[in-house]
Amino acid sequence: MSGILYQIYPRSFQDSDGDGVGDLRGVIQRLPYLVELGVNALWLSPIFPSPMEDFGYDISDYTGIDPLFGTFADFDALIAAAHECGLKVILDLVPNHTSDQHPWFIESRSSKTNPKRDWYIWRDPSGEGGPPNNWLSEFGGSSWEFDAQTGQYYYHAFLRSQPDLNWRNPAVRRAMHDAMRFWLRRGVDGFRVDVMWHLIKDEHLRDNPPNPDFVQGQQPYQQLIPLYSTDRPEVHGVVAELRQAIEEFDNRVLIGEIYLPPQKLVAYYGRDLGGAQLPFNFALISTPWNARAVAKLIDDYEAALPPGAWPNWVLGNHDRQRIASRVDGDQARVAAMLLLTLRGTPTLYYGDEIGMPQVDVQPDQVRDPWEKNLPGLGVGRDGCRTPMQWDSTPQAGFSTGALWLPLSPNSALENVATERQDPASILSLYQALIRLRRARPELALGTYKPVSAADDLLMFEREHHDRRALVALNFGQEPVSYETNRLRGRIVLSTFMDRRDEVVDGRLALRGSEGLVVEPLG
Ligand code: GLC
Ligand code: MG
Repeated sequence: MSGILYQIYPRSFQDSDGDGVGDLRGVIQRLPYLVELGVNALWLSPIFPSPMEDFGYDISDYTGIDPLFGTFADFDALIAAAHECGLKVILDLVPNHTSDQHPWFIESRSSKTNPKRDWYIWRDPSGEGGPPNNWLSEFGGSSWEFDAQTGQYYYHAFLRSQPDLNWRNPAVRRAMHDAMRFWLRRGVDGFRVDVMWHLIKDEHLRDNPPNPDFVQGQQPYQQLIPLYSTDRPEVHGVVAELRQAIEEFDNRVLIGEIYLPPQKLVAYYGRDLGGAQLPFNFALISTPWNARAVAKLIDDYEAALPPGAWPNWVLGNHDRQRIASRVDGDQARVAAMLLLTLRGTPTLYYGDEIGMPQVDVQPDQVRDPWEKNLPGLGVGRDGCRTPMQWDSTPQAGFSTGALWLPLSPNSALENVATERQDPASILSLYQALIRLRRARPELALGTYKPVSAADDLLMFEREHHDRRALVALNFGQEPVSYETNRLRGRIVLSTFMDRRDEVVDGRLALRGSEGLVVEPLG
């Protein structure tokens, strides 16, 4: 998987029918843009039937398309059109939980003896009459919901309308594998698996220990260490079976959403690499933005990788603050160069390539249920899910209807149409980086060798057979330089889109917040 992934949040990419929400026909319209950008695969956040309490991550039918997004005809047309232009299509699989409106759950909650009862995690109240244990929901409050009709609690790691499936039950596993086959047969190229590290819970449902590092003001979920509710040893068997379902088809990919430190994350490659091909590496999202911290992170991650495992890097997604707002100004360009020159599959989040910022969403415009549950803690995700900025018109070319989330106020200036005309824009930089990566095997496939991480300057080398590229990134605002009489080369790309072909001899000078790719000579 040496290609480049592009995440589309379908609600916000392109609306084709004027209802203010993006849809599949909209994605089809924008395929030429993805081709022009140069990515190899698109991953669509969930498009399945859903009450949309968590905007599609609460699924009520694993083998359907929500009418909001379109029809099967639209879906098949999207697959055909994408494949036609050489793009792979990856769907979001949400196997940890369903919607409480899924027929499986409706049956399961109907009685203690229903055959689907054991498809979910039901328990009697504890001795004192409260929830079965102390586990917390990621979205706030207890993760147990009492069901008065049958006198038991069910477990939900997220919203109470997202009951967790019981992955200890083989019938659940079979049903999910069948759902995967349904889409794989329809031509889907793989899945990004939602909250993979949550899939199986401690058999004895032991209490989670308190988190000694918890400080007031953090989200309540952080009060406990989710030792028994997540990342259980048994999860690797579950993942291996998901991989087997994938392997029944040629050339498909299994990606895992996993928020864990590198050491634990890499276990998801599985024994003999029989797990996820790409356990998402989110470390860049949470690492302080300075040369030393990033260099250490790369070293730790590279060192942790099992032999033969292919790395990957992510700068943002629909759950985290956008990169353009996490770092200042031109550092978003440095971040782009880092993402696209590191060893491993890069995943781009829609809009980051035009520098879309985290948008301030006013309290009366909030849509995210997490923010609604825990207002004021800054957990809201609406700001990174705003409509794609295609042009300078009032609706940014995204829709003709009332938008489901507000546009960024900068959309008249920062948009695809404007930036496409500007050879120095961040969009032009992304395109140039992608072209470079596709043209140079040393960037796409080469080894990674750290060169220096002193002060603000991070330098590394990529090498493949006799081809080499040197990457130098200035994480600071001040100019820096690196001197060595061994260095002779030619600049192939600056994040400021100038200095091309400049010769470097003994001294490499970078402006504040500049990144360079240098081709060594001799
Ligand atoms: C994943 C998704 C997130 C969703 C959650 C619950 O973290 O990325 O958007 O809310 O799972 O399904
Ligand atoms: Mg629409």
